[in-house]
Amino acid sequence: MEKRKPFIAGNWKMFKTISEAIETSEQLVKLLSGTIGKDVMIAPPFTALYSVSGIIRESCISLGAQNLFWEKEGAYTGEISPAMLGSAGCKYVIIGHSERRQYFGDNDETVNKKVRAALEAGLIPILCVGESEKERESNYTFSVLDKQVKKGLEGFSLDDLKTIVIAYEPLWAIGTGKTATKEQAQEVHLFLRSLIEKEFGDKLSGSIRILYGGSVKPDNISELMAMPDVDGALVGGASLNPDTFSKLVNYN
Ligand code: 13P
Repeated sequence: MEKRKPFIAGNWKMFKTISEAIETSEQLVKLLSGTIGKDVMIAPPFTALYSVSGIIRESCISLGAQNLFWEKEGAYTGEISPAMLGSAGCKYVIIGHSERRQYFGDNDETVNKKVRAALEAGLIPILCVGESEKERESNYTFSVLDKQVKKGLEGFSLDDLKTIVIAYEPLWAIGTGKTATKEQAQEVHLFLRSLIEKEFGDKLSGSIRILYGGSVKPDNISELMAMPDVDGALVGGASLNPDTFSKLVNYN
């Protein structure tokens, strides 16, 4: 089995104006110029995508979006289509982030439509799953994740999913400074990989990258990445500062 390439992704959420995004990405291009053997992505807000795309084009950094709408075009005020993201230079799109599920009504059904629309447009979906604190305390972690993955990926073939990335982001760890321990992350990542194996076979379960997200910082990334089933990180707060994000990318 080929080794899975580490993937460090930054989700900028609703931070940075266009000029701030330009400055940050220019610094990142310089700081990360020697990067080899890792995939790196940043996901700025929609307004900054096209400007950032021009800056990172020749670098090791790829562009991602934080959301999309599944229709190709139409009277959907305020929404962004998969093709629009592609034309702005995006390679990846984050789908089903817990903040979207919590505040904007995303659910397993709409997530499934978004994954399909992304794949049809040639974008790589990063499907986010994760349990709340209450669900973990009531021992529902695995059943919640089981449902999110099965429904999110319902109706897809193995071939459809060969590029897809999964991000495990426990809600209690996002922006709280409370990271899952490396053992907690490994336990869930192994569960997710086994679930993919059951649903789609061992070819996909062996190659699919599962990222961990939730208070990842330069001082905890190495121990998380040392876990056999943790293939990368989806970083929020610590991805906003170029020095910190470059430290995360250059973990060892
Ligand atoms: P923090 O790294 O700020 O906890 O956010 C994680 C996250 O939600 C990334 O998508």
